[in-house]
Amino acid sequence: MRLRRPFHRAVAAVCCLALLGAGCAADTPQNTLDPEGPFSRSVDNLIQPVFWIAAAVFVFVEGLIVFAVFKFRRRSEDDRPEQIHGSTKFELAWTVVPALILVVVGVLTISKIFYLDRQFSDAMQVEVIGHQWWWEYNYKDAKGETVVAAANELHIPVGRKVQLNLTSADVIHNYWPPKLAGKVYAIPGRRNHMTIQADKADFYYGECAEYCGLSHANMRLRVVAEEPAVFERWMEANSPDKPATSFPIVASADQATASEEAKGHTLFLQKGCSGCHAVNGVARGAVGPNLTYFNSRATFAGAIFENDNDNLRAWLRDPPAEKPGSLMPKLNLAEGEITSLIAYLRTLGDPALRGAPLPAGLAAGPPQP
Ligand code: CUA
Repeated sequence: MRLRRPFHRAVAAVCCLALLGAGCAADTPQNTLDPEGPFSRSVDNLIQPVFWIAAAVFVFVEGLIVFAVFKFRRRSEDDRPEQIHGSTKFELAWTVVPALILVVVGVLTISKIFYLDRQFSDAMQVEVIGHQWWWEYNYKDAKGETVVAAANELHIPVGRKVQLNLTSADVIHNYWPPKLAGKVYAIPGRRNHMTIQADKADFYYGECAEYCGLSHANMRLRVVAEEPAVFERWMEANSPDKPATSFPIVASADQATASEEAKGHTLFLQKGCSGCHAVNGVARGAVGPNLTYFNSRATFAGAIFENDNDNLRAWLRDPPAEKPGSLMPKLNLAEGEITSLIAYLRTLGDPALRGAPLPAGLAAGPPQP
Protein backbone atom coordinates (compact mmCIF):
# COMPACT_ATOMS: atom_id res chain seq x y z
CA MET A 1 0.00 0.00 0.00
CA ARG A 2 2.80 2.34 0.91
CA LEU A 3 4.07 2.35 -2.67
CA ARG A 4 0.78 3.70 -3.96
CA ARG A 5 0.60 6.69 -1.64
CA PRO A 6 2.70 9.03 -3.82
CA PHE A 7 0.47 8.05 -6.71
CA HIS A 8 -2.67 9.02 -4.73
CA ARG A 9 -1.06 12.28 -3.76
CA ALA A 10 -0.17 13.03 -7.36
CA VAL A 11 -3.76 12.32 -8.46
CA ALA A 12 -5.11 14.57 -5.70
CA ALA A 13 -2.70 17.34 -6.68
CA VAL A 14 -3.67 17.10 -10.36
CA CYS A 15 -7.38 17.22 -9.42
CA CYS A 16 -6.83 20.29 -7.24
CA LEU A 17 -4.90 22.02 -10.02
CA ALA A 18 -7.66 21.17 -12.53
CA LEU A 19 -10.28 22.63 -10.15
CA LEU A 20 -8.15 25.71 -9.63
CA GLY A 21 -7.73 26.06 -13.39
CA ALA A 22 -11.47 25.73 -13.96
CA GLY A 23 -12.07 28.49 -11.42
CA CYS A 24 -9.60 30.75 -13.19
CA ALA A 25 -11.25 30.75 -16.62
CA ALA A 26 -11.59 34.46 -17.25
CA ASP A 27 -14.32 34.58 -19.84
CA THR A 28 -17.14 32.81 -18.02
CA PRO A 29 -20.63 34.34 -17.75
CA GLN A 30 -20.78 34.20 -13.96
CA ASN A 31 -17.24 35.28 -13.09
CA THR A 32 -17.55 37.41 -9.98
CA LEU A 33 -13.92 38.56 -10.47
CA ASP A 34 -14.85 40.17 -13.79
CA PRO A 35 -17.19 43.00 -12.70
CA GLU A 36 -19.14 44.87 -15.38
CA GLY A 37 -20.82 47.56 -13.35
CA PRO A 38 -19.82 50.19 -10.78
CA PHE A 39 -21.34 48.34 -7.79
CA SER A 40 -19.72 44.99 -8.52
CA ARG A 41 -16.49 46.86 -9.32
CA SER A 42 -16.66 48.54 -5.94
CA VAL A 43 -16.81 45.08 -4.32
CA ASP A 44 -13.91 43.99 -6.52
CA ASN A 45 -11.96 47.06 -5.36
CA LEU A 46 -12.27 45.67 -1.83
CA ILE A 47 -11.46 42.05 -2.73
CA GLN A 48 -8.24 42.99 -4.55
CA PRO A 49 -6.36 44.79 -1.72
CA VAL A 50 -7.65 42.36 0.94
CA PHE A 51 -6.50 39.42 -1.19
CA TRP A 52 -3.03 40.87 -1.68
CA ILE A 53 -2.69 41.76 2.02
CA ALA A 54 -3.72 38.18 2.89
CA ALA A 55 -1.34 36.79 0.26
CA ALA A 56 1.57 38.83 1.69
CA VAL A 57 0.77 37.63 5.24
CA PHE A 58 0.58 34.03 3.98
CA VAL A 59 3.91 34.20 2.17
CA PHE A 60 5.59 35.94 5.13
CA VAL A 61 4.32 33.47 7.77
CA GLU A 62 4.85 30.34 5.66
CA GLY A 63 8.27 31.67 4.66
CA LEU A 64 9.24 32.03 8.34
CA ILE A 65 8.04 28.47 9.01
CA VAL A 66 10.04 27.04 6.11
CA PHE A 67 13.06 29.11 7.14
CA ALA A 68 12.79 27.86 10.74
CA VAL A 69 12.36 24.24 9.64
CA PHE A 70 15.66 24.29 7.73
CA LYS A 71 17.66 26.72 9.83
CA PHE A 72 16.85 25.18 13.22
CA ARG A 73 16.35 21.53 12.36
CA ARG A 74 17.83 18.89 14.64
CA ARG A 75 21.27 18.04 13.32
CA SER A 76 22.32 15.28 15.74
CA GLU A 77 20.82 13.03 18.43
CA ASP A 78 21.89 15.29 21.29
CA ASP A 79 21.14 18.57 19.49
CA ARG A 80 18.99 20.83 21.71
CA PRO A 81 17.73 24.30 20.78
CA GLU A 82 18.80 27.23 22.88
CA GLN A 83 16.21 27.60 25.69
CA ILE A 84 14.75 31.11 25.87
CA HIS A 85 11.68 32.61 27.50
CA GLY A 86 9.72 35.58 26.19
CA SER A 87 10.75 38.54 24.06
CA THR A 88 8.91 41.80 24.59
CA LYS A 89 10.08 43.07 21.21
CA PHE A 90 8.70 40.09 19.25
CA GLU A 91 5.49 39.82 21.25
CA LEU A 92 4.73 43.49 20.71
CA ALA A 93 5.45 43.14 16.99
CA TRP A 94 3.22 40.11 16.41
CA THR A 95 0.39 41.72 18.36
CA VAL A 96 0.51 45.27 17.00
CA VAL A 97 1.22 44.54 13.31
CA PRO A 98 -1.70 42.07 12.81
CA ALA A 99 -4.00 44.41 14.76
CA LEU A 100 -3.08 47.29 12.44
CA ILE A 101 -3.63 45.11 9.35
CA LEU A 102 -7.06 44.09 10.67
CA VAL A 103 -7.96 47.71 11.37
CA VAL A 104 -7.12 48.64 7.76
CA VAL A 105 -9.15 45.70 6.37
CA GLY A 106 -12.01 46.47 8.78
CA VAL A 107 -12.21 50.16 7.83
CA LEU A 108 -12.17 49.31 4.11
CA THR A 109 -14.88 46.65 4.58
CA ILE A 110 -17.21 48.69 6.79
CA SER A 111 -17.07 51.75 4.53
CA LYS A 112 -17.89 49.46 1.60
CA ILE A 113 -20.88 47.96 3.46
CA PHE A 114 -22.29 51.46 4.05
CA TYR A 115 -21.67 52.41 0.42
CA LEU A 116 -23.47 49.32 -0.91
CA ASP A 117 -26.37 49.92 1.49
CA ARG A 118 -27.05 53.41 0.11
CA GLN A 119 -30.37 54.08 -1.61
CA PHE A 120 -30.12 56.50 -4.52
CA SER A 121 -33.06 58.81 -5.16
CA ASP A 122 -32.49 58.69 -8.94
CA ALA A 123 -32.49 54.88 -9.10
CA MET A 124 -35.15 52.98 -11.02
CA GLN A 125 -37.20 50.86 -8.58
CA VAL A 126 -37.97 47.20 -9.22
CA GLU A 127 -39.63 44.86 -6.76
CA VAL A 128 -38.09 41.37 -6.97
CA ILE A 129 -40.07 38.45 -5.53
CA GLY A 130 -38.50 35.01 -5.22
CA HIS A 131 -40.77 32.03 -5.88
CA GLN A 132 -40.10 28.29 -5.95
CA TRP A 133 -38.49 28.40 -8.57
CA TRP A 134 -38.60 31.59 -10.58
CA TRP A 135 -38.21 35.36 -10.15
CA GLU A 136 -41.01 37.91 -10.38
CA TYR A 137 -40.16 41.52 -11.29
CA ASN A 138 -42.51 44.46 -10.76
CA TYR A 139 -41.26 47.76 -12.16
CA LYS A 140 -42.55 50.67 -10.05
CA ASP A 141 -43.30 54.28 -10.95
CA ALA A 142 -42.67 57.25 -8.63
CA LYS A 143 -45.91 56.52 -6.76
CA GLY A 144 -44.95 52.89 -6.15
CA GLU A 145 -47.51 51.55 -8.63
CA THR A 146 -46.49 48.57 -10.78
CA VAL A 147 -45.98 49.73 -14.38
CA VAL A 148 -44.52 46.51 -15.81
CA ALA A 149 -44.71 42.92 -14.53
CA ALA A 150 -42.05 40.52 -15.81
CA ALA A 151 -40.50 37.18 -14.86
CA ASN A 152 -37.02 35.63 -14.77
CA GLU A 153 -35.46 38.15 -17.16
CA LEU A 154 -34.74 41.58 -15.76
CA HIS A 155 -34.41 44.26 -18.43
CA ILE A 156 -32.42 47.31 -17.34
CA PRO A 157 -31.08 50.37 -19.16
CA VAL A 158 -27.29 50.60 -19.50
CA GLY A 159 -25.61 53.15 -17.24
CA ARG A 160 -28.61 53.68 -14.93
CA LYS A 161 -28.84 52.72 -11.28
CA VAL A 162 -31.53 50.14 -10.62
CA GLN A 163 -32.59 49.45 -7.05
CA LEU A 164 -33.92 45.94 -6.53
CA ASN A 165 -36.23 45.58 -3.54
CA LEU A 166 -36.18 41.91 -2.68
CA THR A 167 -38.68 39.74 -0.90
CA SER A 168 -40.02 36.19 -1.22
CA ALA A 169 -43.41 34.55 -1.66
CA ASP A 170 -42.45 31.27 0.01
CA VAL A 171 -38.99 30.38 1.36
CA ILE A 172 -35.65 32.21 1.57
CA HIS A 173 -33.98 32.77 -1.81
CA ASN A 174 -30.87 34.73 -2.68
CA TYR A 175 -30.45 36.99 -5.71
CA TRP A 176 -27.02 36.85 -7.31
CA PRO A 177 -25.98 38.28 -10.71
CA PRO A 178 -22.20 37.92 -10.11
CA LYS A 179 -20.96 40.40 -12.73
CA LEU A 180 -23.31 43.12 -11.49
CA ALA A 181 -23.52 42.72 -7.71
CA GLY A 182 -22.97 40.55 -4.69
CA LYS A 183 -25.66 38.35 -3.14
CA VAL A 184 -28.72 39.67 -1.30
CA TYR A 185 -31.31 37.53 0.46
CA ALA A 186 -34.97 37.49 -0.58
CA ILE A 187 -36.79 36.70 2.67
CA PRO A 188 -40.57 36.30 3.18
CA GLY A 189 -42.02 39.30 5.06
CA ARG A 190 -38.83 41.36 4.70
CA ARG A 191 -37.65 43.86 2.14
CA ASN A 192 -33.93 43.92 1.38
CA HIS A 193 -32.40 46.08 -1.29
CA MET A 194 -29.46 46.09 -3.64
CA THR A 195 -28.45 48.50 -6.39
CA ILE A 196 -27.10 47.30 -9.71
CA GLN A 197 -25.86 49.10 -12.81
CA ALA A 198 -24.46 47.66 -16.05
CA ASP A 199 -21.60 49.15 -18.09
CA LYS A 200 -22.70 47.84 -21.49
CA ALA A 201 -25.54 46.17 -23.35
CA ASP A 202 -25.25 42.44 -22.64
CA PHE A 203 -26.89 39.40 -21.09
CA TYR A 204 -25.82 38.95 -17.48
CA TYR A 205 -26.37 35.56 -15.92
CA GLY A 206 -27.09 34.77 -12.33
CA GLU A 207 -28.76 32.31 -10.04
CA CYS A 208 -30.45 31.79 -6.72
CA ALA A 209 -27.66 31.39 -4.18
CA GLU A 210 -29.56 29.95 -1.21
CA TYR A 211 -30.84 26.39 -1.08
CA CYS A 212 -34.59 26.78 -1.50
CA GLY A 213 -35.90 23.29 -2.25
CA LEU A 214 -35.88 20.63 -4.92
CA SER A 215 -35.22 22.87 -7.94
CA HIS A 216 -32.88 25.38 -6.28
CA ALA A 217 -30.30 24.54 -8.96
CA ASN A 218 -32.92 25.34 -11.62
CA MET A 219 -33.60 28.84 -10.34
CA ARG A 220 -31.56 30.92 -12.70
CA LEU A 221 -31.92 34.52 -13.77
CA ARG A 222 -30.84 36.78 -16.59
CA VAL A 223 -30.32 40.49 -16.57
CA VAL A 224 -30.75 41.99 -20.03
CA ALA A 225 -28.94 45.33 -20.10
CA GLU A 226 -29.79 47.41 -23.16
CA GLU A 227 -29.36 50.91 -24.53
CA PRO A 228 -31.84 53.34 -22.91
CA ALA A 229 -33.87 53.77 -26.13
CA VAL A 230 -34.20 50.00 -26.56
CA PHE A 231 -35.16 49.67 -22.90
CA GLU A 232 -37.85 52.35 -23.26
CA ARG A 233 -39.33 50.42 -26.19
CA TRP A 234 -39.37 47.28 -24.02
CA MET A 235 -41.10 49.15 -21.18
CA GLU A 236 -43.75 50.57 -23.52
CA ALA A 237 -44.35 47.22 -25.19
CA ASN A 238 -44.78 45.56 -21.77
CA SER A 239 -47.51 47.92 -20.60
CA PRO A 240 -49.86 46.23 -18.13
CA ASP A 241 -52.85 48.13 -19.56
CA LYS A 242 -52.65 46.75 -23.09
CA PRO A 243 -54.85 43.66 -23.45
CA ALA A 244 -53.30 40.65 -25.20
CA THR A 245 -54.57 39.71 -28.67
CA SER A 246 -58.03 38.25 -28.20
CA PHE A 247 -59.36 35.14 -29.89
CA PRO A 248 -62.89 33.70 -30.07
CA ILE A 249 -63.66 30.72 -27.86
CA VAL A 250 -63.59 27.62 -30.06
CA ALA A 251 -66.58 25.32 -29.61
CA SER A 252 -65.93 21.60 -30.11
CA ALA A 253 -67.97 21.67 -33.34
CA ASP A 254 -65.56 24.25 -34.80
CA GLN A 255 -62.31 22.40 -34.01
CA ALA A 256 -61.61 21.53 -37.64
CA THR A 257 -61.76 25.09 -38.96
CA ALA A 258 -60.45 27.15 -36.03
CA SER A 259 -56.88 28.52 -36.02
CA GLU A 260 -54.23 26.93 -33.78
CA GLU A 261 -53.96 30.23 -31.89
CA ALA A 262 -57.70 30.36 -31.15
CA LYS A 263 -57.72 26.69 -30.09
CA GLY A 264 -54.71 27.35 -27.85
CA HIS A 265 -56.44 30.35 -26.28
CA THR A 266 -59.51 28.21 -25.56
CA LEU A 267 -57.34 25.45 -24.04
CA PHE A 268 -55.53 28.07 -21.94
CA LEU A 269 -58.89 28.93 -20.35
CA GLN A 270 -60.22 25.36 -20.13
CA LYS A 271 -57.18 23.41 -18.94
CA GLY A 272 -56.60 25.48 -15.82
CA CYS A 273 -53.62 27.53 -17.13
CA SER A 274 -55.59 30.74 -16.48
CA GLY A 275 -55.99 29.79 -12.81
CA CYS A 276 -52.27 30.27 -12.19
CA HIS A 277 -51.05 32.63 -14.94
CA ALA A 278 -52.07 36.18 -15.75
CA VAL A 279 -52.58 37.36 -19.34
CA ASN A 280 -53.86 40.93 -19.73
CA GLY A 281 -57.55 40.94 -20.55
CA VAL A 282 -57.72 37.12 -20.45
CA ALA A 283 -56.74 35.75 -17.03
CA ARG A 284 -55.65 36.99 -13.61
CA GLY A 285 -53.87 33.98 -12.09
CA ALA A 286 -51.09 35.00 -9.72
CA VAL A 287 -49.38 31.72 -8.77
CA GLY A 288 -47.06 31.40 -11.79
CA PRO A 289 -45.35 33.97 -14.01
CA ASN A 290 -47.43 36.58 -15.83
CA LEU A 291 -47.51 35.35 -19.45
CA THR A 292 -48.81 38.51 -21.20
CA TYR A 293 -45.38 39.04 -22.78
CA PHE A 294 -44.15 35.45 -22.68
CA ASN A 295 -42.87 35.53 -26.26
CA SER A 296 -40.76 38.63 -25.48
CA ARG A 297 -38.61 36.48 -23.20
CA ALA A 298 -35.59 34.53 -24.39
CA THR A 299 -35.99 31.92 -21.63
CA PHE A 300 -38.67 30.40 -19.43
CA ALA A 301 -39.14 28.21 -16.32
CA GLY A 302 -36.67 29.95 -14.03
CA ALA A 303 -34.59 31.00 -17.06
CA ILE A 304 -33.31 27.43 -17.47
CA PHE A 305 -34.76 26.78 -20.93
CA GLU A 306 -34.36 28.77 -24.11
CA ASN A 307 -37.78 29.84 -25.25
CA ASP A 308 -38.03 27.65 -28.35
CA ASN A 309 -40.80 25.32 -29.45
CA ASP A 310 -38.97 22.07 -28.64
CA ASN A 311 -38.30 23.13 -25.05
CA LEU A 312 -41.82 24.47 -24.68
CA ARG A 313 -43.28 21.21 -25.96
CA ALA A 314 -41.22 19.15 -23.52
CA TRP A 315 -42.24 21.51 -20.72
CA LEU A 316 -45.97 21.38 -21.48
CA ARG A 317 -45.84 17.57 -21.72
CA ASP A 318 -44.52 17.14 -18.19
CA PRO A 319 -43.25 20.18 -16.24
CA PRO A 320 -42.11 18.28 -13.09
CA ALA A 321 -39.98 16.01 -15.32
CA GLU A 322 -38.22 19.10 -16.71
CA LYS A 323 -37.95 20.98 -13.40
CA PRO A 324 -38.26 18.65 -10.39
CA GLY A 325 -40.79 19.85 -7.82
CA SER A 326 -42.37 22.28 -10.29
CA LEU A 327 -45.64 23.68 -8.95
CA MET A 328 -47.01 23.45 -12.49
CA PRO A 329 -48.44 19.93 -12.68
CA LYS A 330 -48.46 17.50 -15.56
CA LEU A 331 -51.68 18.34 -17.40
CA ASN A 332 -51.80 15.22 -19.60
CA LEU A 333 -52.20 17.32 -22.74
CA ALA A 334 -52.49 15.64 -26.14
CA GLU A 335 -49.70 16.51 -28.61
CA GLY A 336 -52.21 18.43 -30.76
CA GLU A 337 -53.30 20.44 -27.75
CA ILE A 338 -49.67 21.30 -27.00
CA THR A 339 -49.24 22.51 -30.60
CA SER A 340 -52.25 24.81 -30.15
CA LEU A 341 -51.03 26.11 -26.80
CA ILE A 342 -47.58 26.87 -28.23
CA ALA A 343 -49.21 28.73 -31.14
CA TYR A 344 -51.22 30.78 -28.64
CA LEU A 345 -48.19 31.50 -26.42
CA ARG A 346 -46.35 32.77 -29.51
CA THR A 347 -48.98 35.52 -29.89
CA LEU A 348 -48.12 36.86 -26.42
CA GLY A 349 -45.41 39.48 -26.79
CA ASP A 350 -42.85 40.25 -29.46
CA PRO A 351 -39.70 38.10 -29.94
CA ALA A 352 -37.88 41.20 -31.26
CA LEU A 353 -37.85 42.45 -27.64
CA ARG A 354 -35.87 39.52 -26.27
CA GLY A 355 -32.85 41.76 -25.89
CA ALA A 356 -29.74 42.57 -27.87
CA PRO A 357 -27.43 40.88 -28.52
CA LEU A 358 -29.77 37.95 -29.10
CA PRO A 359 -27.89 34.68 -28.47
CA ALA A 360 -27.90 32.33 -31.46
CA GLY A 361 -30.75 29.85 -31.63
CA LEU A 362 -33.21 31.85 -29.57
CA ALA A 363 -35.46 33.14 -32.36
CA ALA A 364 -38.92 31.64 -32.30
CA GLY A 365 -39.87 29.37 -35.18
CA PRO A 366 -43.28 28.16 -36.27
CA PRO A 367 -45.07 25.68 -33.98
CA GLN A 368 -43.93 22.08 -34.33
CA PRO A 369 -46.41 19.67 -35.92
CU1 CUA B 1 -34.29 30.03 -4.80
CU2 CUA B 1 -32.40 28.68 -4.31
